[in-house]
Amino acid sequence: MDKMMQQKFSEDLLQYLNDSPTAYHAVENAETILKQNHFQELKETMAWSLQKGGRYFVTKNRSSIIAFTVGDNDVASEGFRIIGAHTDFPNLKIKPGPCTVTPDGYVKVNVEVYGGVILSTWFDRPLAVAGRVIMKENNELKEKLIKIDKPIFMIPNLCVHFQRDVNDKGFSYNKQKDIFPLLCMKEDDIEKDDYLLNLIQEESGIQKADILDYELFLYEFQKGIFTGKNKEYISASRIDNLAMVYAGLSALTEAANKGNQYRIFAAFDNEEVGSTTAQGAHSGFLVHTMNRICKNLGLSDDAFFQAVANSTSISADSAHAVHPNYGDKHDPENRPVLGGGPTIKYSASQRYGTSAFSAAYFMKACEQAGVPYQKYVNRNDIVGGSTIGPTISSLTTIPTVDMGTPILAMHSIREFGAVMDNVYTKMAFQAYLE
Ligand code: CO
Repeated sequence: MDKMMQQKFSEDLLQYLNDSPTAYHAVENAETILKQNHFQELKETMAWSLQKGGRYFVTKNRSSIIAFTVGDNDVASEGFRIIGAHTDFPNLKIKPGPCTVTPDGYVKVNVEVYGGVILSTWFDRPLAVAGRVIMKENNELKEKLIKIDKPIFMIPNLCVHFQRDVNDKGFSYNKQKDIFPLLCMKEDDIEKDDYLLNLIQEESGIQKADILDYELFLYEFQKGIFTGKNKEYISASRIDNLAMVYAGLSALTEAANKGNQYRIFAAFDNEEVGSTTAQGAHSGFLVHTMNRICKNLGLSDDAFFQAVANSTSISADSAHAVHPNYGDKHDPENRPVLGGGPTIKYSASQRYGTSAFSAAYFMKACEQAGVPYQKYVNRNDIVGGSTIGPTISSLTTIPTVDMGTPILAMHSIREFGAVMDNVYTKMAFQAYLE
């Protein structure tokens, strides 16, 4: 990629992060990108009729998506090349019974924590709301995505005067008591739950009487930006893991223009809560889709299993860069830095699915693309995280390499990464898929 293309890619990436405040919006925006690149939508509930050289995508729950290209080569002997990522991220989800009123007349929003949030980062920031609403329309169930991109909610900190030791002892927040955002002051003629439903009605045009249920999440109103001395960093919400979703999507759409092969990009919801949902990585969504592709093209069971055995995959999820103030949190020898390139994640206990073989095919792709790469292993006394790699790999029996761009402030409301790591990752993905 030349400098102009790098800049365009980075700006589009930032736009994608900013425009996708929930997994539903991440998938909807992915669909738009795929359609612009001549990918055709399939419905799981309808019959498929795939063509050699075709480009397709299918969604599940509107929060997970699999895009794929059909090759004109022999998939049984050459297999699929697969890139996986996740569409969800930690945040605050609005509960049923969405509002609560304090004796002082404050109306607060009743939220629960989704995933591993750093709660302190949600305080003192204007918050907006987005998600999906299920409603009845002419006796049928319809769903609609909503995004009320306005600074409506706020979780104010307790002042320092009432907690003089806060800087020495650190923040300690009770997930029930301390994190309800303020919405407005109580009004005498408004039913409790209507404070939120009225807002949805006003902003989305959906009549509150038609709303049966909703999945609504708060997000930071302030948009992501490029920062740093030379604008070499990205400060934005949802870098983990929408940056990897965007890199995977871009690589697939570009690789599709360079010859017809069997390639898959899969992005799953619910990684942050363990993946065991119908649309999560720990579901049949990927393996069913692969089976369906092969059967649709007339392959036998034997040929399908042969194709699986000849496939490889990349599990793309943000990695931990060495922190400038907490360098001791890392292994002494494996110390990825911001801007140093995509990072391969290893774990002897297989919390990451990387093997020497899978690492090697990713390193080869990096070398072909002319991009650097780095390696990450936890310190032995830190458990660390996990990701979709081991899950996908065990369900499909396809080898996987766990990798990601190294970032800081993972699971903060605003994460921090390097522009070039995303460029490098996209180039490596493209080399792998081509
Ligand atoms: Co992640």
